[in-house]
Amino acid sequence: MRLLRHGRRGALFALVGGIALVAAGCSSNDNGQNSLKPAGRNAQLIFDLFIPIVIVAAVIGVLVVGATVIFAIKFRHREGKNENPKQIHGSTPLEIGWTIVPALILAVIAVPTIATIFKIAQEPQGQVLHATVVGKQWWWQAQYDKQDKVSGTNIDKTVVTANEIHMIAGVPLKIDLKSDNVIHSFWIPMLGGKQDVIPGRQQHITFYADKPGTYKGACAEYCGLSHANMRMRVIAQTKADFNAWMKGQQGGPAQPWTGEIEKLTGATFACTNCHVFNDSSKAPYGPNLTHLASRTTFAGGTYELNRKNLVGWILNAPGDVPMQSKDCRLPPPATCVGMPSFTKNTPPGNYPVMTRAQAEQIADYLLAEK
Ligand code: CUA
Repeated sequence: MRLLRHGRRGALFALVGGIALVAAGCSSNDNGQNSLKPAGRNAQLIFDLFIPIVIVAAVIGVLVVGATVIFAIKFRHREGKNENPKQIHGSTPLEIGWTIVPALILAVIAVPTIATIFKIAQEPQGQVLHATVVGKQWWWQAQYDKQDKVSGTNIDKTVVTANEIHMIAGVPLKIDLKSDNVIHSFWIPMLGGKQDVIPGRQQHITFYADKPGTYKGACAEYCGLSHANMRMRVIAQTKADFNAWMKGQQGGPAQPWTGEIEKLTGATFACTNCHVFNDSSKAPYGPNLTHLASRTTFAGGTYELNRKNLVGWILNAPGDVPMQSKDCRLPPPATCVGMPSFTKNTPPGNYPVMTRAQAEQIADYLLAEK
């Protein structure tokens, strides 16, 4: 009896604790990645499908769990009574019944589901902005190629940027998704569902953003050490703001990349093996840094772009984000994914160690690169 009372109290605690945990999961829904707050057509289509299916699933869940609990109590073992329940194994009508009913429910749910899949895959109509996004380890490269009259002006020069994808509110953005390494998954919850990004294939996703805003997302397919640091954001802007941004991106570097800074990032530390500092139309191995200062984040969208974060990153990037970059400063065929440390794990040989003053000099140059 004592034991039973303990058991009941334990179960009550577990129930209350469970409900509290579930409720806590809903408390902070302001992280910019809430698929229950759709911000455009495709996200809305998914949401409109999700709600009725959740209701159907909830009704079935309550019925099944309720019946389980009721039967467990009603037919529990009783002292002195030891009769077997009626055996129904092999009952043809029952077997047919509980096969057909779920099949029918799934068949009914399939109708709006398939219709939604087709609607989401529809070619966007009217004015469409195009971009190519490439999944990297571990960041996203975004490229806008030449295109006519999207936002009143022509995009007449290729622009390559990273992790922050700009679009125009009210104008669909059609993205060609590619990967040149492993499988990633592109997901901006408030704008739509996930799309796997598969090496050797070209996938597509279309975003519609009703209003200007910043919509956050993250890679949704495990892709190696820093999968959890592979974030991105879609920034929907007014036409005027987008045009101003695009014009800035198409321009050359804000300050000449010559002299001391060229030597530092070129001959001395070989940043240029992976980065480009003075031409936003190029797609190097690492992020194009020509207009780094126009972004709000860096390192796969993980860190806020400011001087302190950037200096620390330049000195010892693998200390901020896990990477397989121990051998990055060795000549090929060294295996290398990510950005090397210029202070720790410097490989043996004639590889200079970076001083804080040098890192600050590079950071100050980059932070002026609007
Ligand atoms: Cu890319 Cu996970």
